[in-house]
Amino acid sequence: MTKTGPGHKAARVLIVDDEPSSLELLEVYLSEKGYDIVCAVNGKECLRLLDEADPQVIVLDVRLPDMNGIDILREIKGRKNAPHVIIITAFHDMETTIRAMKFGAFEYIPKPIDVDDLEAAIERAVDLTKTRTGGLRVGPEREFEKWDIIGKTKEMKEIFKTIGILSGNRVTVLIEGETGTGKELVARAIHYHSPYKNEPFIAINCGAIVDGLLESELFGHEKGAFTGAIAMKKGKFELASNGTILLDEIGEIPMELQTKLLRFLQQKEFQRVGSERSIHSNARVIAATNRDLAAMVKEGRFREDLFYRLNVASIKVPPLRDRSGDIPLIVEYILKKLNRDLGKGIEQIEKKALARMVDYSWPGNIRELENILTCAAMYTQGVVILDSVINPLIEEAKKTNISAAGKGNAPCREPVLVEKDRILGALEENHWHYGKVCKALGMSRPTLNKKMKQYGIPKKSS
Ligand SMILES: Nc1ncnc2c1ncn2[C@@H]1O[C@H](COP(=O)(O)OP(=O)(O)OP(=O)(O)O)[C@@H](O)[C@H]1O
Ligand SMILES: [Mg+2]
Repeated sequence: MTKTGPGHKAARVLIVDDEPSSLELLEVYLSEKGYDIVCAVNGKECLRLLDEADPQVIVLDVRLPDMNGIDILREIKGRKNAPHVIIITAFHDMETTIRAMKFGAFEYIPKPIDVDDLEAAIERAVDLTKTRTGGLRVGPEREFEKWDIIGKTKEMKEIFKTIGILSGNRVTVLIEGETGTGKELVARAIHYHSPYKNEPFIAINCGAIVDGLLESELFGHEKGAFTGAIAMKKGKFELASNGTILLDEIGEIPMELQTKLLRFLQQKEFQRVGSERSIHSNARVIAATNRDLAAMVKEGRFREDLFYRLNVASIKVPPLRDRSGDIPLIVEYILKKLNRDLGKGIEQIEKKALARMVDYSWPGNIRELENILTCAAMYTQGVVILDSVINPLIEEAKKTNISAAGKGNAPCREPVLVEKDRILGALEENHWHYGKVCKALGMSRPTLNKKMKQYGIPKKSS
């Protein structure tokens, strides 16, 4: 079987890898699959073969002895009719993925390479070559600020890729996701990876502003426009100029403002409150919501035309429970931050505690995880966060989340007090029937006795 490229010849694939054994393995495997393979062991050779061999697809290791793979990628994608480039790297981190996608990589395969994944990617790239009209846009080199978004699951990698692509253009983006999933972080990442990163990034929470003042916040007002408008004030759209404005909780904006926002998105123009004069702004709009906007449209609570205008590109940030594989990494990241911010020296978290965290459903997502770890770190004296600290905090969070729909905002109470409270509660509920209490708490009788003594709870008979 022969894999064909344009003109029905075998599709030519250039493999660039400085490691002879891995190069050979890929060469043999892909030749057997019917590709016409050419190989290069460094960046210089890659660029020479790019001209001489005219490959349809390049499989590029980002770590090469003579050049950085991202630089090679940019060089390749800077050419007319550039081939698709599949990036291979051992560092499957966010920065590399974002950079690679931003500079127009077709796909991203982490080491150790799954050859089936690689072949599937090559096949898709070849297919696209047959029909394609032009490659992805390649931006000039930019320095990045670091906005860490931690994650290595498939779901997050997709998001990094999308950020890379969207940071290269100015389309309106709708970011959807539950509370605390990192929507604002994603919006910032798009901005700070864009050519406009030195322009302002302004976030405004549409749900947190007093009724009637939101319009003036967004579009500004003239002196005397309403009682209390003692001077002219510029709105966020004006202040953002060529930067990005994040309209957080977009589902909360009232109908008449929806119309004005729609007008801005269509014409890039708005008026200050109390003025007829149209003002132009180039601000990029990113909207975020934890509501189901499509459902709100159906219920007539959100303008359909605005919904489509906002939803030109969309990112759905998954809840933490759907990517629990990221929890250990995020825990480690947060603990490092806490060590720095609280001057702590946490070195470890007990295995059982981590397992409990991976199992929990985190309705408040990463913000809730941050809250619980902050409490835990504050009440940890040594270098290890113990399960006996984490367990009551999570139990307390479960209660708060159910009773008050308090999405991860349980107050930080000392775990000891939380546990004492829990034991007292169980004693009362079960009328001091120790057998039932032990069962309710999932505790053995000696443990219960010990804890009651420790917390100074006097014994009573049922
Ligand atoms: N992937 C991640 N890696 C590291 N930190 C994260 C990640 N996602 C979110 N965070 C952190 O979690 C907190 C909540 O994130 P963010 O404010 O972006 O969420 P949100 O979706 O905008 O929440 P809300 O709906 O409540 O506005 C922030 O402190 C943020 O830094
Ligand atoms: Mg937010």
